[in-house]
Amino acid sequence: MAVQPTPEDRFTFGLWTVGWTGNDPFGVPTRADVDPIEAVHKLSEFGAYGMTFHDNDLIPFDATAAERDRILSDFKAALAETGLQVPMITTNLFSHPVFKDGGFTSNDRAVRRFALRKVLTNIDLAAELGAKTFVMWGGREGSEYDGSKDLAAAFDRMKEGVDTVAGYVKEKGYDLRLAIEPKPNEPRGDILLPTVGHALAFIAQLEHGDIVGLNPETGHEQMAGLNFTHGIAQALWAGKLFHIDLNGQRGIKYDQDLVFGHGDLTSAFFTVDLLENGFPNGGPKYDGPRHFDYKPSRTDGYDGVWESAKANMRMYLLLKERAVAFRADPEVQEALKTSGVFELGESTLAAGESTADLLADTASFEDFDATKAAERSFAFIRLNQLALEHLMGAR
Ligand code: GCO
Ligand code: MN
Ligand code: MN
Repeated sequence: MAVQPTPEDRFTFGLWTVGWTGNDPFGVPTRADVDPIEAVHKLSEFGAYGMTFHDNDLIPFDATAAERDRILSDFKAALAETGLQVPMITTNLFSHPVFKDGGFTSNDRAVRRFALRKVLTNIDLAAELGAKTFVMWGGREGSEYDGSKDLAAAFDRMKEGVDTVAGYVKEKGYDLRLAIEPKPNEPRGDILLPTVGHALAFIAQLEHGDIVGLNPETGHEQMAGLNFTHGIAQALWAGKLFHIDLNGQRGIKYDQDLVFGHGDLTSAFFTVDLLENGFPNGGPKYDGPRHFDYKPSRTDGYDGVWESAKANMRMYLLLKERAVAFRADPEVQEALKTSGVFELGESTLAAGESTADLLADTASFEDFDATKAAERSFAFIRLNQLALEHLMGAR
């Protein structure tokens, strides 16, 4: 089926995705470095909307001020030429050995101060490039051994770090929001803020939590055995789905970062259904970029890298077409109704009904026939079969 991505689809890619050269814990790179300017041109040619990056994907850690200026000016020229946007940037607080015990939560205070300075510099760059989201993935914020961290102090330092950055954004008047990216483990044995739920609870403790939300990644929730669609649904419901990292993962294992849909396809279908069609009873909808954070398998050359970039967008658009057809099918609407999906949208108490009214309502309890109510078949299997048949193109 022909699908052609356009910038209106708002597909974005990390420079570190198509730029991953294939080094892993057991092997050296299998591909040569990508030229960021070439990546800008390729992605724009394929119909992407934007590119995102960590400071050090573009600007080497030890670049001089003059080198930084030259790299940025070449990069901006390529953006201007292609129209590609930079809607998100993020900071590398994990590659350099100085961050081996973390950035914001390193036991070494001087490292924490250095990390904060690195992030603040990058916040200025985000604003300069017109990014609206600043992602914070604390891959090294964690431990291998529980005794190596005062965990309460680590949460205090994480809060201090995020609040300092958010306070700086407000002070500068930047139109920028922070998005925390949870991950359960890898590269640390255990990472702080391992899931969407942990991060939401953390944000509620912040002083500047109003501009802090989430950047959930498909595979990261699935690495913890969790349901990604449920995770983003709760973030959306809380008004905190600021950004999203789409990719593929098959089961509870190392972070595979596969092409979107190449992991759990059924889950990817329901993710796209939620992103595109929203909740069946209405409510908040995601309107940010569809960001792919994946790694083109190290078995493949650059032919495979560019094919995989197209594959992410193609998978998304094909799933979107399927999800729209699913919701538009009258039989599905009828099945949703039978299954009580719309009934769940009705408040449990009537409008204006008090707890006293509920207590006085004998129909809801004294005269309620639990045995009879238990006989209801929700017919969820039929509903799921319809979903899968749409996903498979059988309807
Ligand atoms: C991962 C993560 C990272 C982060 C990125 C943003 O796969 O563990 O996806 O790629 O998203 O570093 O900071
Ligand atoms: Mn990942
Ligand atoms: Mn990610």
